[in-house]
Amino acid sequence: MEVLEAISKRYSVRGYTAEKLTQKEIEALLTAGLQAPTATNRQEIHFTVIDGGSDIAKEIEAERTGGKPSPVNFYYDAPTVILLSAEAGFGWSEVDAGIAVENISLAAEGMGLGSLIIGCIKGALNGPKKAYFAEKLAFPEGYEFKIAIAVGRKNAVKPPHGFDFEKSVSFV
Ligand SMILES: Cc1cc2nc3c(=O)[nH]c(=O)nc-3n(C[C@H](O)[C@H](O)[C@H](O)COP(=O)(O)O)c2cc1C
Repeated sequence: MEVLEAISKRYSVRGYTAEKLTQKEIEALLTAGLQAPTATNRQEIHFTVIDGGSDIAKEIEAERTGGKPSPVNFYYDAPTVILLSAEAGFGWSEVDAGIAVENISLAAEGMGLGSLIIGCIKGALNGPKKAYFAEKLAFPEGYEFKIAIAVGRKNAVKPPHGFDFEKSVSFV
């Protein structure tokens, strides 16, 4: 698939089949993340792969919801979730994590998979249990959660978001 086609077709997938990704698929997604550019080529982003439905996914969800029932979990039952962490003190780490997560998202689209970028667990992972989750998720020393992405086989369809070219662009 051409890059522009993948960009235009990608949308946030909020429903997945139960079929697991293969190890080869997961490694291709991680490689796409690792191939993303980083400021000063620091390559500081760390990628933690967890299974949807795993104990740690359930723990994150419980922390996010405060134990209250939620109609959907943060990963919409995707079989795989990749969490991106980076050095707490590096000024470009959020930009770098954003670029890496979009690389993964576009790679997923190109592979015929669906994805959802996930920020809603930031408070849970960087809150009072920050150190606990950092250890459980094998973040390197001094790293903190930046962004996550769920990936799986699409089981929900919606149009990609619209946009207002005139409003959002200036030629000067
Ligand atoms: C930084 C970031 C965080 C996001 N966090 C969530 C999230 O926690 N849960 C969710 O359902 N969607 C999340 N999204 C997806 C956006 O809601 C989605 O990209 C936006 O509504 C546009 O829709 P589209 O991706 O289908 O084009 C996030 C997107 C970004 C870029």
